[in-house]
Amino acid sequence: MSAAARERIRALLAPHPRIPLALLPTPLEPLPRLSDALGGPRIWVKRDDLTGLAFGGNKARQLEYVFADLVARKPDVLVTGANIQSNWSRQCAAAAARLGIPIVLVLRDTDDKEITGNVLIDHWLGAEVRLVDEPEMTRMLRFQIDRVVDELRAEGRNALKIDPWGASVPFGYVGMMAELDEQVEAAGIAPTRIWLAAAGPTHSGIELGARLLGWPTRVTGIAPITWSDAPLDVLVADAANRAAELLGIELRIRPDEIDNRDGYVAPGYGRSSPASLEALRLAARTDALLLDPVYTAKAMAGLIDAVRSGELTRDDTVIFLHTGGLPAAFARRDDILAASRLP
Ligand SMILES: Cc1ncc(COP(=O)(O)O)c(C=O)c1O
Repeated sequence: MSAAARERIRALLAPHPRIPLALLPTPLEPLPRLSDALGGPRIWVKRDDLTGLAFGGNKARQLEYVFADLVARKPDVLVTGANIQSNWSRQCAAAAARLGIPIVLVLRDTDDKEITGNVLIDHWLGAEVRLVDEPEMTRMLRFQIDRVVDELRAEGRNALKIDPWGASVPFGYVGMMAELDEQVEAAGIAPTRIWLAAAGPTHSGIELGARLLGWPTRVTGIAPITWSDAPLDVLVADAANRAAELLGIELRIRPDEIDNRDGYVAPGYGRSSPASLEALRLAARTDALLLDPVYTAKAMAGLIDAVRSGELTRDDTVIFLHTGGLPAAFARRDDILAASRLP
């Protein structure tokens, strides 16, 4: 913990335009009953489910830099998308509404067609929602969105794609680490681990921030999804390195230095497992911490396993990053009920 290192991070980020969108700082809270129930490390939660911007989540911090860049390019329409219950798309729709820019969301409804949760909020925020039946997520993020961008450009509109893998996307979490450093110092704790649901740039930003602060802390990401183009450690390192280059720093991260675990994806992206349902139930009934079934419940399942296997001990202090995603819980009613009925 060092004020000088925090200042360095802030100075590195300062030249990059940022539009305030998130409610910051988010709270850092202890989870005493969950820690006691597990009988292992002291667990704290960084509440990025409370970032605001239409129900919170990790995208709010990321979009502060992404939207600053987009607005400077004077779009008359924005295009992005992902799964029908995409948190990214919901927070993009919220940012676009705030800035008065029309947005088209291209959402994949292959497995899930109900208009509830995130996609309901997308309509509420005034986004134009286009549903597509596309089984492949990587193709979804490239081809399907690009097709709509091309179509809008052919109509003469300055349509810009909001790219979830853009080089500045990790910046929000580099900045979050400076915020966390200050909170950890005030709380008088020394985290030995950071734990999160990580599918890409959030993990990259935290890893970069931890190194810039000189934290010895290991960062563990639990993957909710596997991408078809490369393993997540490669994608996370690559996004970190592109962000580092844009920040003008020498630091580079190798894939083998990234602890991103894909053992919790099964039975598939967005689908619950017995372990994720147990985690969802336990966090709610100990510290009233509501986790989302797609991302954070799986991350917590990984943390619980690490306590049970002895990887995390009473000597550890773990910061669990709550990345949000709660609106999707309403589209996963059966999972929440199943967790609630566990013996
Ligand atoms: C709730 C939640 N947690 C974690 C993630 C992973 O974020 P990132 O892709 O930036 O690692 C996402 C987004 O995909 C999310 O919506």
